[in-house]
Amino acid sequence: MRQLLKIALATLTLGLFATSAQGMEIRDWHKGMDMNCASCHEGAPKGYPEDDACQVCHDVDDLAEQTARPEEDKWQNPHNNLHYGKDIPCVECHSEHGTKEPMCAQCHTFKYPAHKQ
Ligand code: HEC
Ligand code: HEC
Ligand code: HEC
Ligand code: HEC
Repeated sequence: MRQLLKIALATLTLGLFATSAQGMEIRDWHKGMDMNCASCHEGAPKGYPEDDACQVCHDVDDLAEQTARPEEDKWQNPHNNLHYGKDIPCVECHSEHGTKEPMCAQCHTFKYPAHKQ
């Protein structure tokens, strides 16, 4: 099961976006701080950032606490969930230059009302 999901995950990351480097907008919540392309992209900004680029500023343990579910739905926590624990690249569920649904929606109908797509 775990293995299958990993494969599904790997295919997901590929080819969802086909944009150029021109006019790449960043999200409102990242504006106004000292953020530039290199805050997430190493070298020339193209392709996806490294998996751990976001963790320079965001702590996964803190996130898992912030999005904790009631006990019976505990493992629906996007930042600490049944299949992957805390170990999924942020960009599977968060987009920077576009919009994205949490990847769980491929197979589940869990509600994540606080998710800013
Ligand atoms: C240079 C530091 C920095 C980096 C790198 C960074 N962020 Fe942020 N991010 C922040 C700060 C500061 C905020 C605003 C405070 C907060 O909500 O945590 C924020 C806010 C957010 C929010 C909105 C939170 C909300 O509900 O208002 C999301 C989602 C987010 N970041 C995801 C990401 C993802 C995904 C990445 C990697 C692609 C990333 N961030 C990289 C600093 C950073
Ligand atoms: C499996 C999907 C998924 C992954 C992977 C994921 N997130 Fe999230 N994230 C969500 C969802 C869904 C929410 C909305 C939470 C809710 O509904 O309680 C959220 C909320 C957030 C928030 C706002 C937290 C708040 O105050 O409510 C930030 C910041 C954030 N994510 C950053 C990240 C970063 C950084 C990573 C990588 C370390 C990451 N996320 C990985 C799905 C994900
Ligand atoms: C907060 C983190 C963050 C910052 C800052 C950021 N990017 Fe990105 N970038 C991403 C993420 C995440 C992706 C993956 C696609 C997506 O989610 O939008 C990406 C993808 C890209 C891509 C590839 C798109 C594709 O089709 O494969 C390009 C090109 C890009 N960024 C350019 C830039 C440029 C230019 C800047 C500076 C103006 C910048 N990025 C700033 C996080 C960031
Ligand atoms: C490729 C399809 C797929 C994806 C993507 C997926 N799941 Fe699942 N999930 C399943 C299947 C199949 C089951 C039932 C079998 C099992 O328990 O292993 C399941 C069971 C669960 C359960 C226990 C049963 C339930 O409905 O409460 C939870 C919790 C869960 N998944 C959370 C998540 C979360 C959170 C995500 C996103 C990070 C996610 N899943 C992504 C296929 C998926």
